[in-house]
Amino acid sequence: MTATIEVLRIGQRPVRDDRVTTHAALVARAFGASRIYMTEANPEIRQGIRAINETWGGRFEVEYVDGWRPVLHEKVRQGYTVVHLSMYGESVNDVQGELRRRAADGAAKMLIVVGAKKVPREVYDAADYNVSVGGQPHSEIAALAVLLDRIYQGAQLGQERFGGARRRIVPSRHGKRVESSAYGDGDGDRPGAHKVQ
Ligand SMILES: C[S@@+](CC[C@H](N)C(=O)[O-])C[C@H]1O[C@@H](n2cnc3c(N)ncnc32)[C@H](O)[C@@H]1O
Repeated sequence: MTATIEVLRIGQRPVRDDRVTTHAALVARAFGASRIYMTEANPEIRQGIRAINETWGGRFEVEYVDGWRPVLHEKVRQGYTVVHLSMYGESVNDVQGELRRRAADGAAKMLIVVGAKKVPREVYDAADYNVSVGGQPHSEIAALAVLLDRIYQGAQLGQERFGGARRRIVPSRHGKRVESSAYGDGDGDRPGAHKVQ
């Protein structure tokens, strides 16, 4: 069992950042977090992630909050390890060992903060770790994916977390193989059928 890992998305600009925010949520879900908090978000983001859970399984949650500050400070109070992704932070290469050890404790909780525009000083101060994925500016989506993968070392990519899926991919070297569950997926597949497209 590993720690609970949640993500806090801060500073996104409505409409302009919707697509990046959606992708941050998709990556958080696929790479091992259990929830993402976001502010001023388009309601379609949560609906989209719910639809993905229904089809592809798991219980990942999108939670809209009025402001990020109360979430950040409440998590600090609750003893979460707060990891802020920032190009100005310590290298992920240097802190990944510590983060893995913390995450290996099933009772531990971790909050990963990702920004959009300039992140206030308060976040740097509240974080236990400010972590950079290379000292170059790039993307919160990429930084989140790399950090989660460094913590889990690939173990999060199994399908165990995605119970209740209506559809499951059967890995294949060529083509697309998808298995439908007993519930069906509404597109006429027989339960358990494999289809190759
Ligand atoms: C497009 S950047 C904007 C950062 C903003 N200019 C600043 O100075 O805080 C959006 C987010 O991507 C993440 N990010 C970008 N580059 C990163 C890096 N090299 N390492 C870690 N996180 C990074 C950070 O979470 C950052 O807040």
